[in-house]
Parts: sequence; C-alpha cells; structure tokens
Amino acid sequence: MVWLPAQRLIPAVRGKCSSSGCKFCFLRKLSIQPVHRRKIPNRYLGQPSPFTHPHLLKPGEVTPGLSQIEYALRRHKLMAQIQKEARETDHTVILLSNPTYYMSNDIPYTFHQDTNFLYLCGFQEPDSILVLQSVPGKSLPSHKALLFVPRRDPSRELWDGPRSGIDGAVALTGVDEAYTIEEFRHLVAKLKDGSNVVWYDFAKPVHPQLHSDYLVSLAEVKARSKNHIRAIRHLVENLRLIKSSAEIEKLKIAGKVTSQAFTETMFASKAPVDEAFLYAKFEFECRTRGADILAYPPVVAGGNRANTLHYVKNNQLIKDGEMVLLDGGCESSCYVSDITRTWPINGRFTRPQAELYQAVLEIQKACLRLCSPGVSLENIYSLMLTLIGQKLKDLGILNSSSENHLFKAVRKYCPHHVGHYLGMDVHDTPDISRSIPLQPGMVITIEPGIYIPEDDMNAPERFRGTGVRIEDDVVVTENAPLILSADCPKEIYDIEQVCGCSH
Ligand code: GLY
Ligand code: MN
Ligand code: MN
Repeated sequence: MVWLPAQRLIPAVRGKCSSSGCKFCFLRKLSIQPVHRRKIPNRYLGQPSPFTHPHLLKPGEVTPGLSQIEYALRRHKLMAQIQKEARETDHTVILLSNPTYYMSNDIPYTFHQDTNFLYLCGFQEPDSILVLQSVPGKSLPSHKALLFVPRRDPSRELWDGPRSGIDGAVALTGVDEAYTIEEFRHLVAKLKDGSNVVWYDFAKPVHPQLHSDYLVSLAEVKARSKNHIRAIRHLVENLRLIKSSAEIEKLKIAGKVTSQAFTETMFASKAPVDEAFLYAKFEFECRTRGADILAYPPVVAGGNRANTLHYVKNNQLIKDGEMVLLDGGCESSCYVSDITRTWPINGRFTRPQAELYQAVLEIQKACLRLCSPGVSLENIYSLMLTLIGQKLKDLGILNSSSENHLFKAVRKYCPHHVGHYLGMDVHDTPDISRSIPLQPGMVITIEPGIYIPEDDMNAPERFRGTGVRIEDDVVVTENAPLILSADCPKEIYDIEQVCGCSH
C-alpha cells in the first residue's frame, strides 16, 4: 500500500495564478520553500504517523490535525520575527527537546515533550535538537530546518520502543534535513568559528545533559563576542499566544471532552465518596473520549480542602452535605483544557452553598462578558476584585468598615488571579504579560473563586469551610467570546439535574 507517494507537498507554481485566494501563491509570497513530501517509512516511528495511526493522522500531518505546512509556517514566522528584531544577517536558532525523566531507577515517567520545541516541529522524542539556520546569500525568513535525533538502536529500542531515526524524522515532520544527535557536535564546531547570532535559551536550558554536552562551550564562545547569543523563548511565546484555526479546533476538542467528563463525574457523585474515586472517574471519562493524558494533577477537594488552592492529595472522604471542587483538564493531541466546577456531592445545594455559588457564578459571567479584544487579563482581574468585594459585603462576609482595606480583604478570600493564557500548556506562554490587550485568537481561562476556611472566625459560620471556584476556557474573537467549556454544567439548576439523575 502506498501511503505517501514521494511528491511535492506544495507544487511549484509557475507563471501567474489567477485565483486570489490560492494557498500556494500565499505560501510563495511568504517565501516558504516547497516542501518535498518524503515517503513515511512503513514501520513504527517514535510517535504516531499517518502510516501506523491512520485513524489519528491524515497524510501530511505531523501531529493529529496539524500539517507539515502549519509547522513550516510557524518556523517561518519565527524567522520573520528574528529578521525584524536583529540587524545581523546570519542566524541560528537552537531548541532542545525535553529529556526522559525517571520515577524510579530505570522506570521512566510518561514522556512529555517541551512545548516550545514541539510547537516548532511536532517531533515527540526525547534527546533531540531543532536548529533553524539562515541560508547564506538569502535573507530571512528563508532558512533551513534541521533535526538532530536519537539514532536507531535495536538494543535501546528493545526497551523503549521504536525510534523514528533520521529518515522517519524528516519524512514525518517535513524539516529539511535530519542527523543523529552525535552529529550535532560538527555544527557546534562550525558555529563557534562563525559570526552568526545564536538564539538559544542559555539561562534556562530544558535539557541539562544536552546543554552541558554541547551548548555550554558554544555559549561561552558566543558570549565573548558581544551580543551573539540571545534568548529565543519570548519570541516563540509571542507566536504561541495567537492560536491558528487548526489550534482552536484542537482546543475545542479538549474543552468538549473535559466538559463531558465533568458531566459524567457529577452524574457519578454520591455521598459519601472518596476523592480518589472522583479523580479516577474523571480521568477515565477523559481518556475513553480520546484524551492522551490529564493536563495536570487535578484538584479533587471535598469540603474545607477546597480552600487549599493546590490540593492534589485527593485522598479524603467527602461527606454528605459537603461540596467538591474539581479543577481538571486533559491533553488531547498536544492541546489542553483547564476547567473547574464546584458541586454538592449529594446533588443538592444547601442555602449557604447556593448563596456563595451564585455569587461566584455572577462574578464569573460578568468577567466572561469582558473577554473581548482590547481588554487585558489585568483589566478583567480588577473587575473580579471589585465584584468579589461587593458580593462579600452582600453576603455579610465583609462589612463596610473593611472599606479602607477592601482589596487586601478581597485578596484574602481570593488569593489568585482571574485567569491565564491557555494552549499547549495549562499556564501557557507564561512570560507574556497579563497587561497586554487581548486579541482575537488568544485563549484564556476565567476562574474567579471565593474561599472561606473553616477557621475564619470573621466570616459568618454558615459559610465557613466552603470554597467555590468556577473556571471556563475562552477563545477571544472579534465578536462574542467562544466558551470552549460551554457544555460543562454550571447553573445551579443544571448541576442539580445532572447530579440528581443518579439518585
Ligand atoms: N488548574 C490550574 C489553574 O487553574 O490555573
Ligand atoms: Mn486555570
Ligand atoms: Mn484550573
């Protein structure tokens, strides 16, 4: 069976094209070189390929739903950004993959790729290096993309599974050339002698071993010639901040899968129940719907434990009459969700639970309405603090004598921000300021909460030991925000209906 005949992915365009929306003319204008589609080896690679996993990847895709063209465009945009930032003409970008981390002697954790590396090439093996190099005589953004990857090694593959090798890496990702990782030292030697600017995150190497084996000496040489080594991470994050339509599609799937998993977990609520049961149920429902892994250790916090923001022990019994706060998300084809819901474990809100919940819900909806271009996450945070202050007064948790110290008091009851950027990482693009205006294509979370610890003697007794957070994932658009977690029950009536179904 011929899966990927050797053919041009982007046919050479000769002469003038009459179509104004022609994809090939668009790419040519961006001076992207035609990419040759190499035949994918008809064997297992180090990650799913269109040959081994045709149910996940179409021909020409590197990761599910993301084509070689999408990855080439990302690299092209990065080099275009470098062209804007730098006066020099000769540039080399170096990004390291993650290493394998070990849970116990010889026992690896599930491998997870560094997301900046992944964003630019889609290659999912450890101990690899991506290099983007300007081409002599051609101006940026023209460049060559090279991957240095672990060589095929039957004795290691017996234990760790198949590797892509250089032929698999080139054919799958569509980079120009691939070499074994050992060959990287030849490039290092050339770079030491050359005058090119090296873009590499020297201060925060993601792979300590590759860093010390190859990059320390290069960085030292470059550092001596002024300004010839520069950080790259912030440029990649700038690109990652605005999602493409293919990325939004992936995020939609992660949001839908997680919303359904929440509904099933609510449906399975009973009193009493172990937090570990709800954790397992949530993970099961995500993964049976195609999620690869959970995006982070979820918080499954019954009763007063909801007031511990990073509660991940998830090992206590939730009693009848208590609420559970579940903050969970999944990763599906490299994109994640991050959703929080709080609900009564027996399916019925008590009066004080409903009062507090409704207050947070109204604040959350007001914050969601503000998610539009031109408004920043900091602006939404200010609104959240103001609204929480009002609600705390309405509920008798703060009194007017607190006015002078209102924001300090509010921060005591909600010590976290209103949200963050979301994408391949839960806390995506962490170096991007929350003060910049939102733009269409940005994806954020909106997650206000009110937390009243059981030992807070200033709060009315009926609220003590209750913590509520409601978190949705939101795409900023020119029009109304698109809520990726819209299918996840949020209204009191809907939650009671879903929980009540099981009784
Ligand atoms: N789940 C982490 C957060 O909401 O930021
Ligand atoms: Mn979040
Ligand atoms: Mn969360």
